[in-house]
Amino acid sequence: MVADTASTPRVRKITLRIRRQDAPGKPARWESFNIEVPPGSNVIACLQAIARHPKTSNGQTTAPVVFDSGCLEEVCGACTMQVNGKVRQSCSCLVDSVAPNDGDTITLEPMSKFPVVRDLLVDRQRLFHNLKRVKAWVPIDGTYDIGPGPKEDPAHQAVRYKLSECMSCGCCLEACPQFNVEENEEHWDRAFVGAHAISQARLFNEHATGKVLKGARLDVLMGQGGVNDCGNAQNCVKVCPKEIPLTESIAAIGRAVTVHAVKRYFMGAK
Ligand code: SF4
Ligand code: SF4
Ligand code: FES
Repeated sequence: MVADTASTPRVRKITLRIRRQDAPGKPARWESFNIEVPPGSNVIACLQAIARHPKTSNGQTTAPVVFDSGCLEEVCGACTMQVNGKVRQSCSCLVDSVAPNDGDTITLEPMSKFPVVRDLLVDRQRLFHNLKRVKAWVPIDGTYDIGPGPKEDPAHQAVRYKLSECMSCGCCLEACPQFNVEENEEHWDRAFVGAHAISQARLFNEHATGKVLKGARLDVLMGQGGVNDCGNAQNCVKVCPKEIPLTESIAAIGRAVTVHAVKRYFMGAK
């Protein structure tokens, strides 16, 4: 009987080359691991295989590789890293697509725009700080007694649904030439907010209740580090795993900021 090789699952031997760092500010080094992967494995499964047998390809016992993850289904945004030089989610990155042949190598590095905590785990605090800068929320504290808010318009809802899929993964920031490493927290409020924050400001400005903070959001976005710092390189939209129309959001907020600035000038608009 002839084996059906096309449909037989084939375990492959691959190498994972990983940039490691023991703690913030420590020097980085490279370690390689030879592992066997069944078809359909994702990059996280490879890291879990290393954790079970943390031995490098030259036989040295080492510490398991540290990384972040949560949902394992491209929803939480925690597992972002550079895979073969491209920023993406490691949970939805299939080995079959990035290392399809026996003997292939996958290179893993942490994102470069955020401080490394350890190995592939980075501190994304600044990303969340920038969401606070643009007041990316619907203000409902203390409104319970005044009853339901205004009804949502279905057309706006359809636009907002796509924007609401942002999972704060940081891919758009890693790819953006205007978003640079800024370890001094005192400078965060003057540096570029990033495409994710601009798009979330659009999301909440389009919300029937959320728009009460529209003026405050646009004030931030017309200031230093706001939408005018975007160089329109469009790298962000190319790497967003949720395919959020970031350049559309940047253009929409750019127009809103212009109108807001004119109104402010003539009428002192809030
Ligand atoms: S379009 Fe703007 S936000 Fe997007 S990558 Fe370019 S500079 Fe960054
Ligand atoms: S906009 Fe896209 S790439 Fe940027 S944080 Fe949100 S999901 Fe990630
Ligand atoms: S583990 Fe949640 S997005 Fe990858």
